[in-house]
Amino acid sequence: MKTDAKVSIIMGSDSDLGVISGASSLLEEFGISYNITVASAHRTPSLVHKYVTDSVANGVKVFIAGAGGAAHLAGVVASLTTLPVIGIPVKAKSLDGLDSLLSTVGMPPGIPVATVGIDGAKNAGILAVQILAVNDKDLENKLIDYRKKMSADIEAKGEKLSKIGYKQYLAEK
Ligand code: RP5
Repeated sequence: MKTDAKVSIIMGSDSDLGVISGASSLLEEFGISYNITVASAHRTPSLVHKYVTDSVANGVKVFIAGAGGAAHLAGVVASLTTLPVIGIPVKAKSLDGLDSLLSTVGMPPGIPVATVGIDGAKNAGILAVQILAVNDKDLENKLIDYRKKMSADIEAKGEKLSKIGYKQYLAEK
């Protein structure tokens, strides 16, 4: 476990990694050090407990927890710490991920999980950066630049579309 990590990522299975890696790459884009592991709330509960307590002891400020199916992992992580927990419902093998969404978002009062959309790993990463930016001016400025770039990209797309028309636009896509 890294001593300079600000975020700890946990996923229920390595089959979630394709989705969850979207949060990792976002954190890397912002230069944020993070831990990442696989530990399951039902298959390896003591491992989850250890990862959370070790992360807290090492100074992590935010957790990102992703799982699919009966996705109770984020809720279990939230039960073990007062730090903010961002839940990613992973679209697993059934119900188009609705089971994951409902079991991640539907925490009973008292232990919240800040849940992003199904497979919303990128937003989970951005939300973690926003939480860290509350006390970090440099990070806040990076977020402002990130949004400016997003706007500029969309403007450029709109200009291109009106210039070349939809058929050519789709052909070049
Ligand atoms: C959940 O069960 C995991 O988070 C994963 O999304 C799902 C399936 O796990 P595997 O059977 O692929 O390991 O606990």
